[in-house]
Amino acid sequence: MSQRTYLMLKPDAVAARHIGEIIARIERVGLKIERLELANVTVDQAKANYAEHEGKPFYAGLIEYITSGPVVKMIVSGPGAVAVARKLMGETDPAKAAPGTIRGDFGLVMDENVIHGSDSPESAEREIGIFFPS
Ligand code: RTP
Ligand code: MG
Repeated sequence: MSQRTYLMLKPDAVAARHIGEIIARIERVGLKIERLELANVTVDQAKANYAEHEGKPFYAGLIEYITSGPVVKMIVSGPGAVAVARKLMGETDPAKAAPGTIRGDFGLVMDENVIHGSDSPESAEREIGIFFPS
């Protein structure tokens, strides 16, 4: 059964001109791009998306980073889309993410970790509501 996930290429990936290569990996595995938009994340959207991290030491830097430049926002669908996308992304810290994963291949440090992906179907629907409110 098809499932939706919310993926976002973070400002470092867009600035480094890696949009095409990363989207190619998402499509190659067979996931389907349902919506796609280049835009800046507003501070309100960033705070809503990362509410679970409020109060943590990295929170302020995270909000600053995700709003620092354009991102690519995507709704992606397919069987097991949430877990499949997380597998393609690799571990949160690019230094630990395996070679062959998006974070392992395009990232170097935790503070600029290339891509966001929803961690559950419920998070996906919540995040889609934040970033594609229409
Ligand atoms: P994401 O939500 O972006 O897909 O990443 P994730 O599930 O793999 O990781 P999560 O724990 O949800 O953390 C969200 C984002 O916060 C930044 N972070 N920095 N310095 C740190 O210790 C730290 N921990 C998390 C990362 O940008 C991470 O993607
Ligand atoms: Mg997360």
